[in-house]
Amino acid sequence: MKAWRGVIEEYRDFLPVTDKTPIVTLFEGNTPLVPAPRLAEATDARMQIYLKCEGFNPTGSFKDRGMTVAISKALETGSRAVICASTGNTSASAAAFAARAGIRAFVMVPKGAVALGKLSQAAIHGAKVLMVDGNFDQALTIVRQIAERYPVTLVNSVNPFRLEGQKTGAFEVCDQLGRAPDYHLVPVGNAGNITAYWRGYREYHRAGRVKELPRMVGFQAAGAAPIYENRVIQEPRTVATAIKIGNPASWGPALEAMKDSRGWIDIVTDEEILRAYRLLAHEEGIFMEPASAATVAGLSKLIKAGRFEPGSTLVLTLTGHGLKDPDTALESASRPTTVPPRVDAVLAQLGL
Ligand code: F0G
Repeated sequence: MKAWRGVIEEYRDFLPVTDKTPIVTLFEGNTPLVPAPRLAEATDARMQIYLKCEGFNPTGSFKDRGMTVAISKALETGSRAVICASTGNTSASAAAFAARAGIRAFVMVPKGAVALGKLSQAAIHGAKVLMVDGNFDQALTIVRQIAERYPVTLVNSVNPFRLEGQKTGAFEVCDQLGRAPDYHLVPVGNAGNITAYWRGYREYHRAGRVKELPRMVGFQAAGAAPIYENRVIQEPRTVATAIKIGNPASWGPALEAMKDSRGWIDIVTDEEILRAYRLLAHEEGIFMEPASAATVAGLSKLIKAGRFEPGSTLVLTLTGHGLKDPDTALESASRPTTVPPRVDAVLAQLGL
């Protein structure tokens, strides 16, 4: 077996790089596609359900696929600094890849709405972290203006190289499954990933690597569902802070992806998200962050509603690792119990 070389080298033919592009990689990608038999049992045993566990990327989220391309291209054009707005994962990834490349990273996150793990990543990788007294959408507007006027490269998904890298998620699913699934489910925030996956499936299909194309199904949190509600949400609200976005940058392309693939978008409540989050951890042994659990919540909802053809193959992208957000994990689970250092006291607690 040959060693994995990172998504650019593995999928070079499909990516906008040349021999002159300095490749900045943390050997991202190659994440496991895990069958979810308990989830199938709990929902509909006739479905084949797979989880694309993107939390196992180097910085713990799918963002690394796009960031390796965005940072490599930034270096190629001589950029010495990158900037982004983020609900946390993009900033963690940008900070890590900028560190790897030896350039600066400036990141802007909404104050009080970023999970602890993500914030600590951006900090330890040496990014300049600004917490804005406002929301993600406002932060994105600011960094876009700055990147237009100053010599810093914007690495949000409005940078086209981000989505180019992220489409490799679809390539991997096809390579791992030996085909494209019938449905692909993703959480939707800024709407870049659903757009990138659809692009990836189409390109693989066009290249003759797969014969099928999936229907793309996106999920927004009920309190942050601009695409579903077809209006900008001024004050988005959800426990899934990663997708707490009211005016997604890739709104139009995401709508196209859904239309072209005959897919659709739906919403899930915070309660449904947290239930799915616990179920994944308890029943499948997979710890992903709340935004990722939105797809699992959506799966349960739509299977109940009979929205999927029986016998279908479904892939769910679990976008970020559970350790990103330890606070939500502790709030969602039973608290540890303090005991004195004695066997009898421990036994009393264990009920043995
Ligand atoms: N899941 C996680 C864990 C995310 O971090 C994000 C986006 C999404 C889903 C939604 O993906 O934006 O492509 O529709 N996080 C961005 C960030 C906004 O700043 O980290 P999307």
